[in-house]
Amino acid sequence: MHKMSDSEIVEQTIAFVKETLTGAEGGHDFFHIQRVFRNTLFIAKDEKVDVLVVSLAALLHDIADAKFNKGDENIGPELAERFLAELKVKKKTIAHVVKIIKNISFKNNIEKKRGRKFNSKELRVVQDADRLDAMGAIGIARAFNYGGFKNREIYNPEIAPNLKMTKEQYKNSAAPTINHFYEKLLLLKDKMNTETGKQLAEQRHQYMMEYVRQFYIEWDPLSRPMDGNEAI
Ligand code: ADP
Ligand code: NI
Repeated sequence: MHKMSDSEIVEQTIAFVKETLTGAEGGHDFFHIQRVFRNTLFIAKDEKVDVLVVSLAALLHDIADAKFNKGDENIGPELAERFLAELKVKKKTIAHVVKIIKNISFKNNIEKKRGRKFNSKELRVVQDADRLDAMGAIGIARAFNYGGFKNREIYNPEIAPNLKMTKEQYKNSAAPTINHFYEKLLLLKDKMNTETGKQLAEQRHQYMMEYVRQFYIEWDPLSRPMDGNEAI
């Protein structure tokens, strides 16, 4: 086999991911990957990063998400590693991509293992790209799709959001989908790493705030909350 160019590696990876994610839940399907990949390339234009590393990490970051694999967090990174090794990608590149996949997730940042956290410019770019897809109009669509997939309530005024969840509680939460806005989606704006990411996040955040405000007005026309936070 000839040595593949970077763009051939990326093409092969796209085909692999598309195939592997056939039938995935609508918020974690190949189109999620495609959007994160595009966000990644957009953000990467302003950052000095290894473009092959961020591309492969974006494409492979949800290849076997733990929440669709009985909580197993190793399947995804292992699958990615095996696939890239078959393509004869450089060991150093593979190692970096695998570390990004292991560390990108919101839940893995809930409980910081002091001193043991991996970080890199490449991780920060892909993490921003993934976070952006959890925000704004698309973020709202994905949240309710996931809630529907899990047969969750849309909203239940008697179940308050829990802002102090441990990683295990977060993974096992069966709370209404609106709670996820307070537990994750509305917190993302202040977690963005890059300048481009921060700018894009700002607009998507405002849009979600407007959305929850409208939601409570429609839920009970007699209540007139000033903003989403006052209704919970
Ligand atoms: P992480 O595990 O790092 O939080 P996820 O893959 O769970 O990242 O989140 C990706 C997206 O899946 C979220 O942005 C949201 O759209 C959806 N999602 C995950 N958990 C929930 C939930 N409890 N309620 C609604 N949507 C969720
Ligand atoms: Ni993702």
